[in-house]
Amino acid sequence: MIRLTISNQRGGVAKTTTAVTLARCWADEGLKVLLIDTDPQASVHSLIGAKPSQFLFDFLVNGYAFKECLTRIHDNIDLLASSRDTNRAEDIISTQMAREHAFIHAFGQNETGYDVVLIDVAPSIGLFQACAMMYTRDVVVPVGMEMLSIQGALASINSADSLNHFFHKDKKVVQTIGTLPVMVDRRMQMTTTIMEALDGIANRHNVPVFPLIRTDSSVVKAGRHRQFLQDYDPKSRALEDYRALAQILRKKLGEASDANQLAAETI
Ligand SMILES: Nc1ncnc2c1ncn2[C@@H]1O[C@H](COP(=O)(O)OP(=O)(O)O)[C@@H](O)[C@H]1O
Ligand SMILES: [Mg+2]
Repeated sequence: MIRLTISNQRGGVAKTTTAVTLARCWADEGLKVLLIDTDPQASVHSLIGAKPSQFLFDFLVNGYAFKECLTRIHDNIDLLASSRDTNRAEDIISTQMAREHAFIHAFGQNETGYDVVLIDVAPSIGLFQACAMMYTRDVVVPVGMEMLSIQGALASINSADSLNHFFHKDKKVVQTIGTLPVMVDRRMQMTTTIMEALDGIANRHNVPVFPLIRTDSSVVKAGRHRQFLQDYDPKSRALEDYRALAQILRKKLGEASDANQLAAETI
């Protein structure tokens, strides 16, 4: 099973685009995907024009059944949508015991039947980011071609390290499995600087760099048309890059979870 958080403390670095497009890539391969939006700006459902009637808040706080809170956005994708009330849910859960484990408890028992759980988080260091990382363990960090995006990436990598420090005796349980260069245009001078900075992070923090996603106006237009990139422009070059990424991640995370399963069975 693939469980993955898409995180960067900076906004506008294609977190939501990456979560939604990857979800659809895997859905098209026949995998059942649960997409969880924890950003109070509630961008996932607005990006694809869905109209949820229940939200993350209803599940976490109002006691609604998990299934009642899902919105089907594709044959193989269920969305647990966010709303501004997500902020309130975060406040309420922050007063509870073992708060960083809240998603493990909330979603662990509801993930059966899914092959993939993908979480899109808000661009801030908040409780739900920690909850998402503790639950999915694997984290991908998209990085746009500007310096603030590098700072946001480092903040995310440090958050993962802190969680390991506090909860896992410094073992790399929560893992930033890679940075992902997005909106890449080789003609821009800044691109070289940022790619070098990512290589520096790879060396210092042992976080590899995934193959890049090219900048592509179809991504913006798909969003404006409230469509998946796959439906708006199936031949777009950003989609070509996301498809390649989906394959790499599936191989990497699928194999890792097979190995874990095997280890669990032999114990
Ligand atoms: N590969 C890309 N090429 C061009 N624009 C992109 C690309 N990826 C994302 N964008 C645009 O960048 C903006 C921010 O993306 P979004 O996914 O909302 O970021 P975040 O969730 O990190 O705030 C959106 O307008 C989106 O359409
Ligand atoms: Mg977003």
